[in-house]
Amino acid sequence: MADRTFYLTTPIYYVNARPHLGHAYATIAADAMCRYRRLGGDRVYFLTGTDEHGDKIAQAAAKAGVTPQAYADEISAAFRESWRQLGITNDDFLRTTEVRHKQVVQAILQKLYDAGEIYFGEYGGWYCYGCERFYTEKEIVDGKCPDHQTALTFIKEKNYFFKMSKYQEWLVRHLETNPGFIQPERYRNEVLGFLREPLQDLSISRPTSRLKWGIPLPFDNQYVTYVWFDALINYVSALGYPDGALYTELWPHAEHLIGKDILKPHGVYWPTMLHAAGIPLYQRLNVHGYWSLGGGKMSKSVGNVVEAFQLTDKYGHDAFRYFLLREMNFGLDASFSEEALVGRLNADLANDLGNLASRATTLLSRFGAIKEAGGQPTPEDQQIRVLAAETRSAVDHEMADFAFQKALAGIWEFIGAVNRYVDAAAPWELAKDPAKRPRLERVLCTLADALQFLGIILDPFVPEAAAKIRGALGFTKQPRLEDAVVGRLTSVPAVEKMAALFPRIEAKVSEEGKSTAPAASASPVKIPMDDFMKVELRVAEVVAAERMPKSKKLLKLTVKVGDETRTVVAGIAEQYEPEPLVGRKVVIVANLQPATLMGVESNGMVLAASHEGTLSLLTLDKDVPPGSKVT
Ligand code: MSP
Repeated sequence: MADRTFYLTTPIYYVNARPHLGHAYATIAADAMCRYRRLGGDRVYFLTGTDEHGDKIAQAAAKAGVTPQAYADEISAAFRESWRQLGITNDDFLRTTEVRHKQVVQAILQKLYDAGEIYFGEYGGWYCYGCERFYTEKEIVDGKCPDHQTALTFIKEKNYFFKMSKYQEWLVRHLETNPGFIQPERYRNEVLGFLREPLQDLSISRPTSRLKWGIPLPFDNQYVTYVWFDALINYVSALGYPDGALYTELWPHAEHLIGKDILKPHGVYWPTMLHAAGIPLYQRLNVHGYWSLGGGKMSKSVGNVVEAFQLTDKYGHDAFRYFLLREMNFGLDASFSEEALVGRLNADLANDLGNLASRATTLLSRFGAIKEAGGQPTPEDQQIRVLAAETRSAVDHEMADFAFQKALAGIWEFIGAVNRYVDAAAPWELAKDPAKRPRLERVLCTLADALQFLGIILDPFVPEAAAKIRGALGFTKQPRLEDAVVGRLTSVPAVEKMAALFPRIEAKVSEEGKSTAPAASASPVKIPMDDFMKVELRVAEVVAAERMPKSKKLLKLTVKVGDETRTVVAGIAEQYEPEPLVGRKVVIVANLQPATLMGVESNGMVLAASHEGTLSLLTLDKDVPPGSKVT
């Protein structure tokens, strides 16, 4: 049986930089995973925090002219605040400058020292301040740090060393007998690759003559703890190691989520440290790839990772979160661009999911509550049930490996199938024939059921949208995966029509490459014929027209469409006087969701061509009655 307790950690972030895309990805991915496990009823504990000691932070603080503590306080608070705004559901936030952490670091150091695992010696080597570690000759590329491409510093000094080398064979054996210990497999292979070279002992101290900003060694106050030795211990200090109840409960279920650049400390230093200290190993290390800023024209507007993160405010948390989880194949690198984000927002969220939610709730709200659905399920209904069950198990399977992108692709296949189901069942046609009422009820029930399924299973990935979907269906219970089943509903409550879940972004790229959304330019997204067929264009006759009070641009038109009379607000007042329009026939989009413009509900949209500021209403070259379809 699967492990029902789950303790997941993110890396703790250095406080020398403000929160950016890379940090946001790790935190969002961990959050989606924790939300998913909670949805499945598991006991979940989610830890994140900040890594506040070391040269890097001391240097950044000195540059800013403040104390390291003041510097750390400010940036750590910025991380905390970013996660709060993103709705991250962490249970704890650990700072390495907290007493609870420092005590545990010192206790573990003392334990290792007493056990003879730490010795005093001298070491000279090439050091990267960015990575806070020494590089071996083999790892150095063109005399530079392979990660930062910056010059390395040769440091020779007396330090304390952890006898890491003696655990080399043991660690290789552990990786061989536990193939799932590091995933995806490429990273397990990478660690096995490191271990083909002789493993060095690890320098775990820095002399206070060079660096004061650290945790003093309990056995020599002329030294502070090396930052990685300090930082890794956060994963157990946060649980109150060695006696805390949380430690006892959670540590046997620990999994870490990290980026590939910090594989060696997590895949080599940490397991050997744990083993030497007599602490059981974590269960699994999950490693993601790197985001680069690339691609499309609009991406010029995203000059760096901090700006990329700020797009979350521009496009919304759900859209940002969805993009990160959907776009990156877990374990591989991915490319971030504003254009790609907008593409997914329009295609997957506004079109596929948003349209389904608005069509479904419009239909459901029109027909009111269904007490006991009449018709029997047909093979089409049955297919949606089966697909829902298959989707749930596929999502479960993919989430077991942090394969967010595959889980989401599976859910989107289901959304596509439900959209096709509605098209084929055509409930609006069924509604015209009272004899087809039982079938109509069954279709609406399947639709409500499918939407509820999505309102539950999407919760970890787009929490705000999922909550709105559940809200529209009157689903007020705590969402649980076990309720994500299609086929149980026999009645449907009164459903509220939903406003657009995700607004479409019509973006224009200006000369400087900056995006200036929204604009009237044509969207580059190509739509399938099916989508176009959803748009109902009809001839409408203007029976009354007046200016909207306090608006220069808007006219309020009363139009006849067949037997129906409706109000349409049109943005043509700057070029058309109201009176001459009366009696004219125009073309409208007849099946748009109503929109309220300056207090008037508009039911449709008048079509007009536009060229360099000139508007030209679409008219007909032969007379046909109002209500005629435009195809
Ligand atoms: N403080 C250490 C971690 C200590 S954990 C005991 C650290 N901090 S960091 O702030 O530099 O990076 C934290 C995480 O952000 C890492 O997992 C890193 O992979 C991730 N990212 C930073 N930039 C990134 C991208 N551009 N793309 C994806 N993730 C990246 O390392």
